[in-house]
Amino acid sequence: MTTHTTKNKLVVITGVTRGLGLAMVEGFLRAGFSVAGCGRSADRINQLQNEYPRPHDFAVVDIADESQVRRWAARVMDSRGAPDLLINNAALINRNAPLWQVSAEEFSLIVDVNLKGAAHVIRHFAPAMIARRSGVIVNFSSGWGRSTDAEVAPYCATKWAIEGLTQALAQELPADLAAVPLNPGIINTEMLQSCFGPENASAYPTAREWAERAVPFLLSLNRSHNGQSLTVP
Ligand SMILES: NC(=O)c1ccc[n+]([C@@H]2O[C@H](COP(=O)([O-])OP(=O)(O)OC[C@H]3O[C@@H](n4cnc5c(N)ncnc54)[C@H](OP(=O)(O)O)[C@@H]3O)[C@@H](O)[C@H]2O)c1
Repeated sequence: MTTHTTKNKLVVITGVTRGLGLAMVEGFLRAGFSVAGCGRSADRINQLQNEYPRPHDFAVVDIADESQVRRWAARVMDSRGAPDLLINNAALINRNAPLWQVSAEEFSLIVDVNLKGAAHVIRHFAPAMIARRSGVIVNFSSGWGRSTDAEVAPYCATKWAIEGLTQALAQELPADLAAVPLNPGIINTEMLQSCFGPENASAYPTAREWAERAVPFLLSLNRSHNGQSLTVP
């Protein structure tokens, strides 16, 4: 990302109430950026806004609901302008089960959040980034966006879709913007505990340890990375 001063740079992140999203908020704030973040858990969003007052902005938004995303994007950009870095981080994983045992309702929810939710966020933030002619869009993928395992088929399907969606988006963006599908690696969060089990998950780094590597890496992304499937080193 090109920088003049970090102070006026805005990072927008979905899914900031726990896990990687929360660790990125803390990392970007330490690095001197302004942050706007969302999640569904109102108590955690309120805590964040109390802890990190304006100009930082934390909002209760369900990204699966386009009208909520539309209002959120308009309000954030009204006061702060277009994001310099837009991070589609929010996602859900299905409860471990073979595909034929996943209900239609659970399957739809995973698609609505992981895939359609990310598209809603892009639909409502990207036009202002394009008009300003700068910015980087990072869509969180997964190792399971490039490989598969049993019992996580709905999640794999959405993350493979995120790879394709992001690469097509990269072909559409005008010069100076970039879109990147990013595999964060394997990190001990509630999501990992759900699919690996708490004991196996505990062998992996914490979200805070991960953010120490991830935040500088995210800040290094620019047009030259457009369309590349990347992994946090
Ligand atoms: N942890 C890993 O090892 C790993 C590996 C590969 C990829 N990833 C990817 O990294 C990203 C973060 O994962 P994580 O491990 O930090 O997961 P996590 O601990 O489960 O956190 C997910 C975050 O997304 C938010 N979220 C979920 N549904 C939402 C919705 N409809 N609207 C708004 N926010 C929503 C949650 O907040 P609320 O519940 O408050 O809404 C929460 O803040 C995901 O895209 C995941 O697929 C993680």
